Amino acid sequence: MASSPRALSSAMVPLFFIFISFSEAREFLIGGNTDSWKIPSSESDSLNKWAESSRFLIGDSLVWKYDSNKDSVLQVTKRDYMSCNSSSPVEEYKDGNTKVKLDRSGPYYFISGSEGHCEKGQKLIVVVMSARHSRFVGISPAPSPVEFEGPAVAPTSSAASLKGSLTVALGVLVGFVLLGL
Ligand SMILES: *[C@@H]1O[C@H](CO)[C@@H](O)[C@H](O)[C@H]1NC(C)=O
Repeated sequence: MASSPRALSSAMVPLFFIFISFSEAREFLIGGNTDSWKIPSSESDSLNKWAESSRFLIGDSLVWKYDSNKDSVLQVTKRDYMSCNSSSPVEEYKDGNTKVKLDRSGPYYFISGSEGHCEKGQKLIVVVMSARHSRFVGISPAPSPVEFEGPAVAPTSSAASLKGSLTVALGVLVGFVLLGL
């Protein structure tokens, strides 16, 4: 007799929880939904609104699901993000099931590769905090990614994690001062 699906899934449940509790890295499905990589219907529906409500840490991954015939994901510079310039992306993904590992702190900029979509709001900034255990990021309200002006100094090794978190903290403070807040 073939093993029943029920027996199989009940065997997997403990494994699943062990995996969750031992693995610090998480995967974020963009927009929390398999059809979220599209032109947002309104400002409040935008992907940056979604990103602001999440805390991204080094080691986490972003996952995009989309129709590879109609769309793509471009990782771009801040400048190209602002101007929706898709001509020279840092990275281009078009497999329909894109996973990007966040391996440094600081901002990541993404736009749609579909003509005209970025201009209509299909764009995303993800700001990665470097310190997993920092109280700082827990207490302080996250700065709006759009206004995040701190120097994007990424620590080069995980040993530099604490230093990196201080750099980010300093960067945010400097950003606020520069913005006159
Ligand atoms: C887009 O970026 C490319 C490469 O950086 C540049 O040559 C081009 O002028 C830019 N286009 C616009 C419309 O800014």
